[in-house]
Amino acid sequence: MNFENSKIRQLQRNEDIPYDLLLLADETTEAINKYINDSEIYILVNNEKIIAVYVLQDLRNNIVEIKNIAVDEEYQGHGIGRTLLLDAIRRAREKNFKTIIIGTANGGIKQLYLYQKVGFEIYDIKKNFISDNYPEPIYENGILLKHMIMLKKELK
Ligand code: ACO
Repeated sequence: MNFENSKIRQLQRNEDIPYDLLLLADETTEAINKYINDSEIYILVNNEKIIAVYVLQDLRNNIVEIKNIAVDEEYQGHGIGRTLLLDAIRRAREKNFKTIIIGTANGGIKQLYLYQKVGFEIYDIKKNFISDNYPEPIYENGILLKHMIMLKKELK
């Protein structure tokens, strides 16, 4: 696949929020709506099509969180997720945040691999966060999702 014509840019206020992509990373629209209006949305556009997204939320105290990161299923596994994470880190640094954090469920093996590969370190586990917040059992990679694993990267 060729991503030479790709560009990452901030979604403007008058543009539609790409819920179809955001729902790849979050279970429900309600969950997304809890943070989306208080966040900055960045999209990767390839040949005029939005194929990936990430969302940054300022948590105060110089901490910024990647609340959502998602790549269109057709384009996964080609390095776009990694490119988005590096872009998020660069922008967070430019905005003078001290720390960038990201969370993933205990079954997110690929995510845990990728986040650590670009320099995030596990610093906390929110025990039963997923089982307490979602009524239906959710599985990923055949693993029942229960806990949220939190990772951070210091931006010196
Ligand atoms: N299993 C294991 N490793 C894999 C797989 C796989 N199926 N696919 C790719 N990888 C490896 C790649 O080889 C690469 O490693 P490398 O740098 O050593 O070569 C690494 O994972 C990164 O791969 P990318 O191609 O950059 O990742 P991708 O473009 O697929 O994006 C993402 C990753 C965002 C997790 C994507 O798969 C996705 O959208 N998934 C669904 C939504 C989701 O789960 N989002 C994260 C939820 S947590 C949150 O949003 C805060």
